[in-house]
Amino acid sequence: MNAISFSQVTRAYGDVLAVDGLDLGIPPGRTVALLGPNGAGKSTSINMLLGLLRPTSGQIKIFGETPERAIARGDVGAMLQEGTLIPELTVAETVGFVRSLYPDPLPLDEILRMAELTDLAGRRAGRLSGGQTQRVRFALAIAGAPRLLILDEPTAAMDVESRRAFWDNIRAYAAQGRTVLFATHYLEEADENSDRVVVIARGRIVADGTAAEIKAGVGGQTVSFTLGTQSVAGLDALPGVIAVEITSGRAVLRTSDPDVTVDALYRKTTLDVRGLEIAGADLEDAFLALTQES
Ligand SMILES: Nc1ncnc2c1ncn2[C@@H]1O[C@H](COP(=O)(O)OP(=O)(O)OP(=O)(O)O)[C@@H](O)[C@H]1O
Ligand SMILES: [Mg+2]
Repeated sequence: MNAISFSQVTRAYGDVLAVDGLDLGIPPGRTVALLGPNGAGKSTSINMLLGLLRPTSGQIKIFGETPERAIARGDVGAMLQEGTLIPELTVAETVGFVRSLYPDPLPLDEILRMAELTDLAGRRAGRLSGGQTQRVRFALAIAGAPRLLILDEPTAAMDVESRRAFWDNIRAYAAQGRTVLFATHYLEEADENSDRVVVIARGRIVADGTAAEIKAGVGGQTVSFTLGTQSVAGLDALPGVIAVEITSGRAVLRTSDPDVTVDALYRKTTLDVRGLEIAGADLEDAFLALTQES
């Protein structure tokens, strides 16, 4: 059974089709990034998943149940794009209150430790910095020990160091077999912290796979070497190669898989390969190519 399933889900706001026939199945235990530019439909999809918005058509299931039932059962924790804390309550009071709403919450100490809030337990919420507030919101999301954690652009207010610590904490949470879905428009964040990236643009899925597969799908990686006077015959037939170009005495092979191409270059040809370079396609280029096409 999938942790999350969207079947032909559509959501319109007037005549804006924010989500347009979304079909997506996420098995339990995965960390999946929902990557897309502003207005792609990420928050709309997440809000429907959380039962905060109704689909115009189609069906959403969480562990086989409607979102409302899955949430009532305590299966889902979420960190949304907006949401404020009560300024007069301390961090420990805030987390303690929210955990008391769940049938089987994590121990308070453990939540504070996982969100790196132990030292801030007595601080009033109104006195926290933006990044610290995000940590409290993360603590609230995991308080009920949910099997599914949903995060909408969770690191927006964090500096580089807090971001790194945050993802370490998410990884530790996910390592216990939990499912995580997060929205981002940071390509690196999707690449580094998920085992699958679903790229959406204009409410539709435009790519779905590992970050490496998405880069390869756009065919942007190259293997190049100094050709000199050697013949290019047969290079286009090497495994992975999509196209061969010769520029200023160098052979440039566009490949979907540089590892197998380089291996074949050495083992299956008699070429004298010198000055070998592998240029990884930028995920940024892949992302722009995918989200700008119609
Ligand atoms: N309440 C609303 N009323 C009308 N249109 C809306 C509403 N909420 C979102 N939209 C539109 O739906 C589309 C998808 O918006 P959504 O917020 O889901 O995008 P997003 O991918 O989360 O973007 P961002 O990265 O900026 O958070 C956009 O065109 C947006 O203008
Ligand atoms: Mg959004």
